[in-house]
Amino acid sequence: MLIDTHLHLFNENYNIDEVISRAKDAGVKYLIVSGSDLVDNKFNEKLLDTYDNVFLSVGYHPSCALDISDEDLNYLEDLIKLDRVVAIGEIGLDYHYGKDDRDKQIELFRFQLDLAVRYNLPVVIHTRDAFLDTYNILKEYNLKGVIHCFSGSVEFAKECLKLGYYIGVTGVVTFKNSKKLREVVKNVPLDRLLVETDCPYMAPEPNRGKTNRSDYIEFVLDKIAEIKNVDGRDLNKQVNENLFRLMSKIS
Ligand code: NI
Repeated sequence: MLIDTHLHLFNENYNIDEVISRAKDAGVKYLIVSGSDLVDNKFNEKLLDTYDNVFLSVGYHPSCALDISDEDLNYLEDLIKLDRVVAIGEIGLDYHYGKDDRDKQIELFRFQLDLAVRYNLPVVIHTRDAFLDTYNILKEYNLKGVIHCFSGSVEFAKECLKLGYYIGVTGVVTFKNSKKLREVVKNVPLDRLLVETDCPYMAPEPNRGKTNRSDYIEFVLDKIAEIKNVDGRDLNKQVNENLFRLMSKIS
């Protein structure tokens, strides 16, 4: 049994029926579909009616910090109460595109972390060029979660592990120029790793540059097994256990 712990399905290149049934045929039993903005959270909510292997992480990505209204925040709280919503995310901070909206990003991030505390849910963290602020805020909270699509240093990974977070690894680990991420993987204990595609982005080798899909999770697992020098099936079992431990609403 494979699990894609983080992906996006709101994508014009996808025929949803086809994408989901192909994942199923390839043995991907659970898809944890992540929200980013209002449109895709609404889209994801509807998937629950049709596909019983879909679970959701719901939340607003820092890139929409300037667009989110009070009504949108109320909607998020309604979503959180659904049975198959297993985490809040992806939420966090992204300073890649400049400074204009940092205060708003932090406000939105804290609001959603407060929701995670109130509803006792794990968080899926997006952090890009904002490691220190992200860390300092997470440190104030006593939450469980994953740093998804990890792109930081070994040192940052170690600090996140100390806070109790898991490290989410995507197909980037298969890229030739991703020495830093492979170094991180070497340093993260097996019981703290999660594996994700983050599709449609970042297709792993040998499919780099193509539209990513959940069944490519195998390439990510293979690469990590090689780096950690462990049996692929043992690794698969271990990362599944990690996921069930973190997102305990999935069964
Ligand atoms: Ni994502």
